[in-house]
Amino acid sequence: MTNKQISNQLLRKDAGNIRNMFSSIARFYDFLNKVLSLNFDRKWRAFAVKVSNVSADSKVLDVCSGTGDLAIAYSKALDKNGKVVGSDFCHEMLKYGNSKIARLHLEKSIHMTEADTLNLPFRDNQFQVASVAFGIRNVSNLENGVKEMMRVVDKGGKVVILEFSQPTNPIFKQIYFFYFKKILPVIGNLISSSKDSAYTYLPNSVLTFPDREALKTKLENCGLKNIEIYSLTLGIVTIHIGTKE
Ligand SMILES: C[S@@+](CC[C@H](N)C(=O)[O-])C[C@H]1O[C@@H](n2cnc3c(N)ncnc32)[C@H](O)[C@@H]1O
Repeated sequence: MTNKQISNQLLRKDAGNIRNMFSSIARFYDFLNKVLSLNFDRKWRAFAVKVSNVSADSKVLDVCSGTGDLAIAYSKALDKNGKVVGSDFCHEMLKYGNSKIARLHLEKSIHMTEADTLNLPFRDNQFQVASVAFGIRNVSNLENGVKEMMRVVDKGGKVVILEFSQPTNPIFKQIYFFYFKKILPVIGNLISSSKDSAYTYLPNSVLTFPDREALKTKLENCGLKNIEIYSLTLGIVTIHIGTKE
């Protein structure tokens, strides 16, 4: 199959295919994030934590947590009474995440667990924040994923979604799309030797994902209130934050 055919198959978001794809790139995931985002990814996650306004004793759930970078960013905003749980259904991603957490001596504040975002193994209303970075786009049913995040968040708690978006400035958009559609897949697939064409799927999945206003409407339809939107780096990524009433 060609890269395009594999990417089109992944766009159906079958859980097994998505999990296999992330397993195959897990080893290179952090490195490629930094290279391909020119290290902006750290700033985006730090900003998501900042605008979440977490109190230091919060319990935070980071779904589709992968190698745990957003979980780690949240842990820095918490004190010893706070706790972060990171969940993901890809064992390999969690394995690299756990090694990193151990290297950073954060085992006491972050617990990583294997779980499907569509069926979270947590009681209702037990977290103050449920977050997701670059993950909800890969979940086979966006609304059900958001509703599961809402279920485990306490009343008054927040759902925080950091996701790639499309720049609004037409000139920047052309330059960015050249990089995102033509250069990034070549570098990403080459370095990760991704047989699943993960870095061809990346831009294709972003281009077929709801834009910032459509995502806002979907979140409102899920029942989230007072949705705030932050556009970062000329609209390459957006953060949506909604409150559970
Ligand atoms: C692009 S990575 C993002 C990882 C991390 N949040 C970050 O900021 O780097 C997407 C992650 O979502 C996970 N994922 C996709 N669908 C999932 C689902 N239904 N349940 C749990 N994890 C899922 C994948 O296994 C992968 O680790």
